[in-house]
Amino acid sequence: MKAVVYTKYGLPEVAKLMEVSKPIPKDNEVLMKVCASTVNRTDSGFRSANYFISRFWSGLIRPKYPILGCEFAGTIEEIGKDVKTFKRGDRVFGYNDKTCGGHGEYLTMSEDDAIATLPGNLTFYEAAPLTEGAHYALNNIRASKIKSGQHALVYGATGAIGSAAVQLLKHLGAKVTAVCNTKNVALVKSLGADTVIDYQTQDFTKTNTKFHFILDAVGKSSFRECKPLLTESGVYISTELGKNAENIFYALTTPMWKGKKVLFPIPTINKADVIFLKELAEKGEYKPVIDSYYKLDQIVEAYRYVETGQKTGNVVIKVVEE
Ligand SMILES: NC(=O)c1ccc[n+]([C@@H]2O[C@H](COP(=O)([O-])OP(=O)(O)OC[C@H]3O[C@@H](n4cnc5c(N)ncnc54)[C@H](OP(=O)(O)O)[C@@H]3O)[C@@H](O)[C@H]2O)c1
Repeated sequence: MKAVVYTKYGLPEVAKLMEVSKPIPKDNEVLMKVCASTVNRTDSGFRSANYFISRFWSGLIRPKYPILGCEFAGTIEEIGKDVKTFKRGDRVFGYNDKTCGGHGEYLTMSEDDAIATLPGNLTFYEAAPLTEGAHYALNNIRASKIKSGQHALVYGATGAIGSAAVQLLKHLGAKVTAVCNTKNVALVKSLGADTVIDYQTQDFTKTNTKFHFILDAVGKSSFRECKPLLTESGVYISTELGKNAENIFYALTTPMWKGKKVLFPIPTINKADVIFLKELAEKGEYKPVIDSYYKLDQIVEAYRYVETGQKTGNVVIKVVEE
């Protein structure tokens, strides 16, 4: 089968399209013919290993799992003898940031992992980006313990995480203020944000609203800057470590006292989360924003674009033309 393989960490060019053996499903696994995947910041993080810590998951010296692509959507082609919940021909999607594999024509996964049947209203291309940004957003939102009616601010509301966070917070009944660039104001309003602040013309720190939860989904702000905007028990979460990894320091110290705090939840995802996202998609309450499409042989360009930090939502890889 064709797959994009990386055998060393580095720039996008380390990812090369080549022929590799088709995987064989174990007794508890399904074999999926991949139709769509994405290139996202998780794939980029593993490939570049810019943060050395990522190597504890992906391999200290060289990559343990040479085919990236943690998001995928496709059709089940074969099932292991013990598989009970899927059958051949099922259209599925999901997330796998351990062994990955979406950047190849076939991948195997345990039936118990983060995989579910496709939302009836989405194509493979629309379903592939359902999970990466959304599961980070979901972990952070759950950690904040925000309730219906409370105010949340999403800084960087147009990334994969930010655009999912706005929609998930609205589903929970929060009042959402979203911060984005002028060109994306209409898009962010269409995601359900109650108030949109254009960071090119307005300073979001001057807003009079007090927020229970501030999510910096692009890691461009700081706790110090956002603290005055938080309620007395408000929570600040950033998707980046911050200057000198200060967000880790604050996450270890601020929860020891009452009052405003920083959290740094470790993201997880399971089958129940994937089913939750599928059901939200079917109800029309969550739809991933798609920036652009690339083919498997254009993956280096896709990585270069994702690493500009300017994508709007998600970059989809068409493994097969639908
Ligand atoms: N290391 C990892 O494994 C990993 C995994 C996932 C995510 N992350 C981190 O999580 C963050 C979000 O990732 P993502 O994929 O959701 O999105 P992303 O690709 O990082 O974000 C793109 C968006 O960020 C916005 N943006 C850029 N500069 C901005 C600024 N100064 N102020 C406000 N918005 C700005 C842009 O929107 P506008 O056009 O509106 O400016 C663009 O739409 C990133 O920092 C990423 O590194 C890391």
